[in-house]
Amino acid sequence: MKKIKVHEGRAYYPMPCAVVGAKIGEKANYLTVAWFSMVNPDPPYLAIAMNKAHYTNLGIKTNRTFSLNIPSVDIAEKVDYCGLVSGKKFDKATIFETFYGELETAPMVKECPFNVECRLVQTVELPAEDLFIGEIITAYCDENCLTGGTPDLKKINSFILSMPDKRYRALGQDIGSAWDMGKKHIKK
Ligand SMILES: Cc1cc2nc3c(=O)[nH]c(=O)nc-3n(C[C@H](O)[C@H](O)[C@H](O)COP(=O)(O)O)c2cc1C
Repeated sequence: MKKIKVHEGRAYYPMPCAVVGAKIGEKANYLTVAWFSMVNPDPPYLAIAMNKAHYTNLGIKTNRTFSLNIPSVDIAEKVDYCGLVSGKKFDKATIFETFYGELETAPMVKECPFNVECRLVQTVELPAEDLFIGEIITAYCDENCLTGGTPDLKKINSFILSMPDKRYRALGQDIGSAWDMGKKHIKK
């Protein structure tokens, strides 16, 4: 198949969606992110790329804490709202029910079945983005989204962002066993 050059600055791959929470003054502020990933297993670090212009960055830099909350498909509209408007102009503190954990300054979203609270360990200054690297201090999961005591992605029922068509998509079908189905290609 012939390869055609496409726009190099776009993320042409499925990106999970999440809500980042930070405390600014006495209020929670929430924004939507798709540019995030686990980046270290032990200690558990995750990194989130957030445009320097965002209001939420102020809270993360001030308290050196933040949360990452994985939503289910049924709150996709509220998640989209948090990515449409800035806390500079709109009070997003009451769009979700907030709870706090051990860190006390990392507001988390009760309606999201899976939540982590993080302590900021490093901020990498990129040309347009603050890349926040946080250590996960505590992870929480709704009881009904656990299977055998472990968070179950199928029950959490999260969704991805598809670009450049700007669509939210629920997770697709199970296609095989990771770290296993490729074994048949290992040459003996
Ligand atoms: C689906 C979606 C994904 C987004 N992903 C990111 C992201 O990964 N990083 C980022 O900086 N902004 C992202 N945004 C944009 C911010 O969420 C948006 O600008 C938000 O209004 C900023 O809020 P704040 O100023 O209150 O912090 C995303 C928006 C949407 C709708």
